[in-house]
Amino acid sequence: MKFSAFLILIPAALRASAQLVVQEQQRPLLDASAQYPGFHVDLNAQRLLEFEDGSRVMMSELEKLELKMRGERFFDVTETPNLNSFGIKKSVDFSYPALSKNETVRDVIKTLTTDGPKANLEVFSGFKTRYYRSDSGRESQEWLLNRIKETVSTSASDAIQSSINVQAFPHSWTQSSIILRINGTSGTDETVVIGAHQDSTNMLFFLPAPGADDDGSGTVTILEALRGVISSGLRPKKNVEFHWYSGEEGGLLGSQAIAQAYKAASANVYAMIQMDMTAWVKKGTKEVVGVVEDFVDPTLTDYVKELVEAYLDIPYVATACGYACSDHGSWSKAGYRSSFTIESEFHDSDPNIHSTRDTIDVSPEFSFTHMLEFSKLAAAFAIELGEWEKA
Ligand SMILES: *[C@@H]1O[C@H](CO)[C@@H](O)[C@H](O)[C@H]1NC(C)=O
Ligand SMILES: *[C@@H]1O[C@H](CO)[C@@H](O)[C@H](O)[C@H]1NC(C)=O
Repeated sequence: MKFSAFLILIPAALRASAQLVVQEQQRPLLDASAQYPGFHVDLNAQRLLEFEDGSRVMMSELEKLELKMRGERFFDVTETPNLNSFGIKKSVDFSYPALSKNETVRDVIKTLTTDGPKANLEVFSGFKTRYYRSDSGRESQEWLLNRIKETVSTSASDAIQSSINVQAFPHSWTQSSIILRINGTSGTDETVVIGAHQDSTNMLFFLPAPGADDDGSGTVTILEALRGVISSGLRPKKNVEFHWYSGEEGGLLGSQAIAQAYKAASANVYAMIQMDMTAWVKKGTKEVVGVVEDFVDPTLTDYVKELVEAYLDIPYVATACGYACSDHGSWSKAGYRSSFTIESEFHDSDPNIHSTRDTIDVSPEFSFTHMLEFSKLAAAFAIELGEWEKA
C-alpha cells in the first residue's frame, strides 16, 4: 500500500530535492545510468501515470520512483490505459443477500490458526526483496505458487481439487501474479475475488524489503483462509478466486492487468475484497478491523461490516486510505464492486513499511492473532458470498 506519512522518515533535504541528491556525496540516490544487479529496471523507460484529478502524465521510471518516495498517489496506466473507459453498468438497486451461512462459517473459522501464517511469513519475509522487477521477487513468487499448490494438495478432497486451478498470471515484468480459481457447482459466471499483493519494496527499490506487513501479512492471511475453506469438504456454488498480485508497489500494476483481462473477457466479478496489511496493532490502541470507505463500493463495504460484526472477535472502525491505495482500486476503476480492509485506522498502521524494519519481529505490535481475525473475515467473505455447501 501507499503511505504518505512515510515522508516524515525521509530527511527534509531529500524531500526538497527533485534530483534526490545526497548532499554530502553529491551523488544521486537513483542513477539512471547505474547497474543494479538482480534488478530489471530501466530507469529511463517512459511510464504513463494517472492521478486523482484524472490527469495523466508521461514520465521516466526514475521520476516515477521519486514521486513514490515523496508519497504521491498514482496508477501506472502504461499497460492499462483503457481500464476505466468502457463502462460496466452497476445496477442502483443492487444488494447482497442476508447472511445465511452462520453454522458453516463458524465451523470453518474455528479451524483457522496462526501456525500456517507464521511458518509461511517467516519464509516469505526472508527473501531479500520481493520487488516486482527483481530476481528475488521472481523467486518469492515461485515459492508462493508452490506453497499454494501444496496447500491445495494437502488440504482439499479429490472432488474439490478437481475443481481448482492454480496458475501464474505473467506480466511484462519479472514477477508474475498468481490466481487460484475454485469453480462453483452452479455453473454461474459470478466470481468472488479475495486479493492481497505479494510484492514488497524498499523506498529505494534496490535495498532489502522484507515486507512482512506490506503485504506479506495479507498474502498469508488469505492463504490461511483458503486452507480453511477447501478443508471443509464443502464446495461453493459461485466461483471463488484468490489473487496474489505483483507490482502493487509499482502503481497497482498486476491488479490492473488482471482487471483489464477480466473486463475484456466480460468476466462477472460479483464481489472483491483486498487485504493489504493485517498484522499491526499500534501500542495503546484497541484492536480493530479498519474498513476503508473511500474508492470502494459502499454496498459491499456495508456487507463487509456485517461480516465483521457477525463473525469476528473484534469490531470495525471506518477509515479512509486515499486514491490508488491498494489493489481494490484497480477493480473499482474497472467498474467492479470492491472493498478493502486494513489492520487499523489508517493513521495507526505500521510505520515500518517500505523499509528494512518491516519484519515480523520488529515489535510486539506485529500480531499473528490480529492477522487471524482477517483470515476469519476472508473465509466468511468466501463462504457467504460464494455460498459454500455440501456438494
Ligand atoms: C450464529 O450462531 C451462534 C451460535 O453458534 C449464535 O450465537 C449467533 O447468534 C448466530 N448468529 C446469527 C446471525 O444467526
Ligand atoms: C472451470 O470452469 C472454466 C469455465 O467454465 C473451465 O474452462 C475450466 O476448465 C474449469 N476448471 C476446472 C479446474 O474445472
